[in-house]
Amino acid sequence: MTQNGSLVDELQQLEARALRAVEEAASADALEDVRITFLGRKEGRISGILRRLGELEPEERPRVGAEANRVKSRLQEALDRRQEVLEEASGTDGGVLDLTLPGRRRWQGGRHPVTRVIDELVEIFRGLGFTRARGPEVETEWYNFEALNTPLDHPAADEQDTLYLMGGHLLRSHTSPVQVRVMETHAPPIRVLAPGMVYRRDSYDATHTPGFAQLEGLAVDEGITFVDLKATLAEFARRYWGPGTRIRFRPSFFPFTEPSAEVDVKRAVQRADGTEEETDWLEIMGAGMVDPAVLDAAGIDSERYTGFAFGMGPGRIGLLKYGIPDLRLYLDNDIRFLQQFSGR
Ligand code: PHE
Repeated sequence: MTQNGSLVDELQQLEARALRAVEEAASADALEDVRITFLGRKEGRISGILRRLGELEPEERPRVGAEANRVKSRLQEALDRRQEVLEEASGTDGGVLDLTLPGRRRWQGGRHPVTRVIDELVEIFRGLGFTRARGPEVETEWYNFEALNTPLDHPAADEQDTLYLMGGHLLRSHTSPVQVRVMETHAPPIRVLAPGMVYRRDSYDATHTPGFAQLEGLAVDEGITFVDLKATLAEFARRYWGPGTRIRFRPSFFPFTEPSAEVDVKRAVQRADGTEEETDWLEIMGAGMVDPAVLDAAGIDSERYTGFAFGMGPGRIGLLKYGIPDLRLYLDNDIRFLQQFSGR
């Protein structure tokens, strides 16, 4: 019998003993002792045998080496399996608590960019004396149209634009019905801001979506004039976009305001070299003096009180503010898009 044969025999006996010791190990510590005894690099039994490879003829070494590797990996497998069993039984990770592991960051949600814009706008108008109001998204023709001086044969009431539900209800096509609801339930002076979703039968593309956010403003009191409207909106624009911001009123028409205007802003932006540049005029809202017929329909004495109203699109304002190229991004719920705004 050659040296070679006896070393292979020794390895196989070692294997049997080691496997038995693995099965008998009753704790993570005991298992670790078994591992060190047999696989330990310095004192381990298998290393001990390999150190004697030098006693063999060169051509016999590979067979013993190969057998040693086989035993090692079989033993390693048995150790791993046993460790799993022990961990499962004790319901822990084997008692090993690695304090150097980096902490796991808790997943944190963020506000939707349109919600952020709404919160910023509400905050600015709060400083101008406006409080928040809200109304239902499912409305009646009365609140969405008739009380707002819009006869049902007006093009805006047409099915082309409005999403009708059953039972004489519809999805509000603008936030202006909240004006009526607030005036019905509150006596002047009134200063409210009503953000919310509105719905229209529209295409779904980069610049249209069938649902979008609006923000309605309403002020009613004795002696309110167009000057109050202009001053309020100019002050708002400067607080939101910075002191260099200009606004412009273009004559327009809404059934519920008279006179009516479209309001544009021109912002002053910093060029890379530090000098200032003005943007193009950009339409941001519709506005006007509340039509006396609307005050009357809501039960407010139009001989005594006047008011102004405005409606803007926070989504559009967000496009500008964040350089968002496509309205659909707001509704896609793509976490990669939304995460960019989750700062706070
Ligand atoms: N409700 C109008 C719209 O949806 C906007 C508006 C609100 C205009 C208030 C004037 C006054 O387009």
